[in-house]
Amino acid sequence: MRSKQALDTLKDLFERNLTWANGIKQEDPDFFSNLSQQQAPEYLWIGCSDSRVPANQIVNLPPGDIFVHRNIANVVVHSDLNCLSVIQYAVEVLKVKHIIVCGHYGCGGIKAALENSENGLIDNWLGHIKDVRRFNAKAFEGLDEKQSLDRLCELNVIEQVRNVCNTTIVQKAWKNGVKLNVHSWVYSIKNGILKDLAGSIGSKEEFNKRIAEDYR
Ligand code: CO
Repeated sequence: MRSKQALDTLKDLFERNLTWANGIKQEDPDFFSNLSQQQAPEYLWIGCSDSRVPANQIVNLPPGDIFVHRNIANVVVHSDLNCLSVIQYAVEVLKVKHIIVCGHYGCGGIKAALENSENGLIDNWLGHIKDVRRFNAKAFEGLDEKQSLDRLCELNVIEQVRNVCNTTIVQKAWKNGVKLNVHSWVYSIKNGILKDLAGSIGSKEEFNKRIAEDYR
């Protein structure tokens, strides 16, 4: 039986950490010393905070390979300095080649936005998702509750990709001929499988043609 102090200080997590770090060092003794010199990730992941959707694990990549931003329901708000700073640093300093917006089916944030229940402060955040529902009202005609939830999870990803593409950061990168692709993915927590919703968007022309208006 563990002592109360061990439980309070999360000793088991430190033990798990040692096991993990030692395992990696056994496979590659230089892993951490190499990684400590610099990070050079090729991907920026914008995903949901949900504990079941951990970026690195889903695509089976080690530390150092993905720059990550997560919030409830993977929302990219035009004026969110946190998210915009992450995108700017990823694009202009780390020079990532891909930005992935990854939503997931069964998202609690999306469900709450659909249900229109009262949840306090978070309802202000969920307002962005209610907007997506309103912008796409036609796409929900004739759908039952489960289908509506799946559909909004997908349409929310598309809307947030639209917002990523419309940032001054991505627009400037494309204008300067930087190779930068934006992806819209959705993940199934039921089977662990990813799905690409709208292909990769790599230029302003592609964005205007494929996603700016039409994906509805
Ligand atoms: Co979620």
